Amino acid sequence: MKINQQDYHTIWLSEDNKNVIIIDQRSLPHEFKTESLSNVADVCDAIQEMHVRGAPLIGVTAAYGMYFAALQSSPDTFERDMKNYAQQLKETRPTAVNLAWAVDQQLAQVAEGQVNPAAFLDLAQKLKAESIDRCHQIGKHGLQLIQDIYEAKSEVVNILTHCNAGWLACIDYGTATAPMYLAHDAGIPIHVWVDETRPRNQGARITAFELQEHGIAHTVITDNTGGHLMQHAQVDLVIVGTDRTTATGDVCNKIGTYLKALAAHDNDVPFYVAAPTSSIDLNVKDGIKEIPIEVRADHEVRYIQGSHEGQIKEVLLTPAASPAANYAFDVTPARLVTALITERGICEANEAAISALFSV
Ligand code: MRU
Repeated sequence: MKINQQDYHTIWLSEDNKNVIIIDQRSLPHEFKTESLSNVADVCDAIQEMHVRGAPLIGVTAAYGMYFAALQSSPDTFERDMKNYAQQLKETRPTAVNLAWAVDQQLAQVAEGQVNPAAFLDLAQKLKAESIDRCHQIGKHGLQLIQDIYEAKSEVVNILTHCNAGWLACIDYGTATAPMYLAHDAGIPIHVWVDETRPRNQGARITAFELQEHGIAHTVITDNTGGHLMQHAQVDLVIVGTDRTTATGDVCNKIGTYLKALAAHDNDVPFYVAAPTSSIDLNVKDGIKEIPIEVRADHEVRYIQGSHEGQIKEVLLTPAASPAANYAFDVTPARLVTALITERGICEANEAAISALFSV
């Protein structure tokens, strides 16, 4: 996708193959900065501190981390070192299954006796390319849903989204945003309601930035507004992303997603989840009981970041002594999900439909 008319992916390899370059998302939309990562510690820090974020992107970033791990591991203790590095990478963020999914694919190479760093680099590059393709396919399937609504109403299609499941959360296109980009490019008039997504404001900062750069009509709303809009027929459909969707169709995504699904259900608004294979965890059946929910620092709730006179600043929002809780994700039960938009097609959020689509 484009920033300032220039094409970007969210992560790319340096010409000498020694570093990967990322877009540091902490300063968006106010400053565009890139950062070079060159070892496992850099990668762990970038994921944990959310220089990179979004389930597909942290998966691919961790895959590159395993390439650095191969460069750093000693030939004598290669397997043990690689397992240690894999563990460090997996511990950076526990909820999005994409991260462990990518690291485990690299570990499978270790189990086969692979020791050549080039093989780990090749796999990271492959996972990156596949991620782009998956998002593009999700876009094509989701486009059809938007097209159908447009044909039925012949007016602007209003879509609500939560957090950032856009190209900056992936490599390109995004998951939830891919259908929006393709619909816009196909000439279908759309407008996107963008939940601000406290506490880190990925909607207000990053989704709004993406849509703005692509020329898509959008309006940033506070996290509490969606229900009101749905009651007044201002939302035709909701599309969100996912960090982990279970074999039974429970959807874990950014905190607040569940409340949007409840409101959508109550108002007969279709609630779609864009879910690439890398976000589907067939080993988990009960999302509420089994998915580990990341708890982040209370600082992110107590302070808020913005730009003032050209400088990015953080200000205290709460009484200095008030404690705060920062659960980063929640789980939307499958019964509230209209369907999953996957790269293989649209799929009902239930065990039979998911296993039919993903068992091979
Ligand atoms: O904490 P974040 O910013 O990594 O959370 C991102 C989300 O919750 C996204 O909706 C999810 O990862 C899907 S990204 C295509």
